[in-house]
Amino acid sequence: MRGEKWAVDLTEQLLTLAVVDSTTNSFQTSSDIVLLDNHGRAINYLRLAVTDRCNLRCHYCMPEHGLNWLSRSDLLSYEEMTRLCTVLVRLGITKVRITGGEPFVRKDLMRFLHMLSELERLQEITLTTNGVTTAPLVPELKKLGIRSVNLSLDTLDRERFFQITRRDDLPRVMQTLDALLNHDIAVKINAVVMEGQNTDDLIPLAQLTRRLPVDVRFIEEMPFNGGDHTTAVRPLWDHRHILDTLRAEWPELEKIPDPPFSTSMNYRLPEHLGKVGIIAAWSRTFCGTCNRIRVTPEGALKTCLYDHGVLQIRDLMRQGLDDEALAAHLLDAFNRRHKTGWEAEEARRGLPVGESMATIGG
Ligand code: 5AD
Ligand code: SF4
Repeated sequence: MRGEKWAVDLTEQLLTLAVVDSTTNSFQTSSDIVLLDNHGRAINYLRLAVTDRCNLRCHYCMPEHGLNWLSRSDLLSYEEMTRLCTVLVRLGITKVRITGGEPFVRKDLMRFLHMLSELERLQEITLTTNGVTTAPLVPELKKLGIRSVNLSLDTLDRERFFQITRRDDLPRVMQTLDALLNHDIAVKINAVVMEGQNTDDLIPLAQLTRRLPVDVRFIEEMPFNGGDHTTAVRPLWDHRHILDTLRAEWPELEKIPDPPFSTSMNYRLPEHLGKVGIIAAWSRTFCGTCNRIRVTPEGALKTCLYDHGVLQIRDLMRQGLDDEALAAHLLDAFNRRHKTGWEAEEARRGLPVGESMATIGG
C-alpha cells in the first residue's frame, strides 16, 4: 500500500523515512523521500558554495583585500560536486542553491549547471548572485530551467553601493535585475541592514515591490565577515527594529502566511506586486523548521550556518569512499544535528563566528 512508512536501510541507521510502493518495493521519486534529522526536521535543501572568491568586497562579508583564497585543488571539482549532489538527491535533497562567494566568478560555472540540470530527481536549482556579471547569462539560465534567483542588493544609491561593496557596480546589478524580470525568472532581493550604511534604503528598497514582481528581504547582519567576532551583541537593526521602521512608514503593512521552511517573516503592502520579508539571521527564529544543509567551497558539510563544519566530504571522496559509504557518513552527520544555531555556536567552543560568509555560502 502506498503511503506506508519504511525506513531506508542504507546504513542500518533508521533515520531516513520514505514512502514505498510495496507492490514494486521501490521508491517512487525522490519527492516521496523524507530525510529527517535527529530532531524530526525534514532536510531537503542543499546550499552549495562553488567558490570563496568574489568580485565585490562587501564590508559585512569580507575584508578589503579579500581572503586567503582557496587554491583550485582545495575546491571540490564540478565532477565531485555532481557526485555529491547525486548521493544527496538519492537521500532526499530536492532543491540545490548555488552560492559562493560569487558563483559566476568560478570558471565555467555554466558547465556545472548543465551537469546538475541533468540529475533526474533534482526538482529545483536556484542561485544566489551579486548580479555584477550575471545579466548576459540570464537567457542561458532560463533555458536551463532556473526559475528563481536571489540577488544581493543592499542599496539603490550608487554612492552607498560603492561604500558597502567597495566597487562601483550598481548599474550592472540593475541590468541583471532587468534581465531576470524580462525572462520571467522570480527574483528575491537580499539586503543586509546595517546601521550607518543603508538604513535610508529600507523604504526605497521595499518600495520596489510596488511596481515590480520582486520580493525584497531584509536580513539581520551577522558577524560572518572575515574578522574575529562573536554574536554577543545583538545587531541594532534586528528583525523587530526593521519591522517597526517599515510599519512606521506603512501602518497598512500586512502579515501574510510564511511558506513551509521559510526563513523570512513575510508581509505585503496593499496593491504592491511583490512581498517584503525579514530574515532574523542573527536572532535565529527559524531553527525549528530548518530544512537546509550547506557544503562549503572546500567540501565541508555544515548542518547549521553557525556550526564549524561537521564533516570533511572532499577528503572522504578523495580517499576513495564509494557512494554507500559516503551516504553513511552523511546520514550520521544528519543524525547529530544541533537543534538551534545557538547550540551550534556554543559547540564551536571559543572558535569565533568570524569566518567570511563567502567561505560558508551565503
Ligand atoms: N550578515 C548577513 N548576511 C550576510 N550575507 C553575507 N554576509 C552576511 C552577513 N555578515 C548574505 C547577504 C548576501 C549573501 C551572499 O549572503 O544576503 O546577499
Ligand atoms: Fe561578494 Fe556576496 Fe560577500 Fe558581497 S556578500 S563580498 S557580493 S560574496
